[in-house]
Amino acid sequence: MPIKNTFAIMNTKGGVGKSTLVLALAETLSVHHGKNVLVIDSDAQSSVSSMLMTVSNLYQLQNDGLTLVDYLVAKVLQNNTSDLRRFVVRDVSDVDDVNSIFLIPSDMQLTLFEREVSRESRHGRLRVVIRELLDEVREVFDIILIDCPPGLSVLTESWLREADFHVAPTKADYVSVCGLEVFRRFKQLNPEMGFATNLGVIVNMKDMASPTEDEYHTWLRDNAENRCFKQAIPRIHALQDAARFQPERRSYLAKYPGRIGEAMRALVVEFLERVASQPTAAVASTPAAPAPEDAEGSYGSDAHVEADVEAQQDRKTTSAA
Ligand SMILES: Nc1ncnc2c1ncn2[C@@H]1O[C@H](COP(=O)(O)OP(=O)(O)O)[C@@H](O)[C@H]1O
Ligand SMILES: [Mg+2]
Repeated sequence: MPIKNTFAIMNTKGGVGKSTLVLALAETLSVHHGKNVLVIDSDAQSSVSSMLMTVSNLYQLQNDGLTLVDYLVAKVLQNNTSDLRRFVVRDVSDVDDVNSIFLIPSDMQLTLFEREVSRESRHGRLRVVIRELLDEVREVFDIILIDCPPGLSVLTESWLREADFHVAPTKADYVSVCGLEVFRRFKQLNPEMGFATNLGVIVNMKDMASPTEDEYHTWLRDNAENRCFKQAIPRIHALQDAARFQPERRSYLAKYPGRIGEAMRALVVEFLERVASQPTAAVASTPAAPAPEDAEGSYGSDAHVEADVEAQQDRKTTSAA
């Protein structure tokens, strides 16, 4: 039975918390459920990459040509072979209990890559490469989270057509909900081309004291098509702090204190229940897969080990300062 464990995190609207939720979902899945999580950063702004590692390490990987963009340029534009494992960074995240989050980082050159894909009409080739990439990582990781940029680029379209599920964070306000509507109409355009299944809409940054925001949440939940999650994520400053990578590691509870940690854990339980209730999804009902280092072939090249060492040095430097 095919494994269904790839999730595109998407809303055509920016600033609704897509990248922040990818980070918090990955860390909660790793710490509280022992899952091996691969985060694929598909945004030219590299937000989630910079939430998961130091900026200097990210620059290093970008300079060394070890990002998603370099992989896609080789495979899609140059028709070269390229070993995906070289592009997977291990031991990312600043949470001390996390040792099972992996990252394929991004680079701002992604925009140029997409322009070339359109100019050379390589959309079909791009989609094949994305399909093969997801087929490869499905077997190795428990959960794959793809952080999409706002808007609907050619690359985002490929993820949305090849991933198993899409998850749409939104704010409980008019403009963000309009972003969902654009997305829904896009999904209906070419159904024959395939599309991810809706796992659900997540209300983020909810002002728990606001009756208007609660009305939006109820309205989203009342429309069954949205499959809106019961658990919303409150607007709490701690989540902004969580987004800033700290070279000195912190505990999960320090990063997600009080209500925000409770909400994230409840959200992840709901997330895993939804995945488990899918007919062919094996991910939530089975024990976590062995760490990819132990699986056949090793994920994360030596270059990344060096990056890890540097990260530790950075941590030491900062804590000494
Ligand atoms: N629940 C929340 N409470 C408070 N701030 C949040 C929350 N979720 C996200 N943010 C903040 O909102 C901003 C946009 O989040 P981001 O994840 O970059 O959105 P997107 O990826 O959709 O563009 C960031 O400054 C982030 O720290
Ligand atoms: Mg983002």
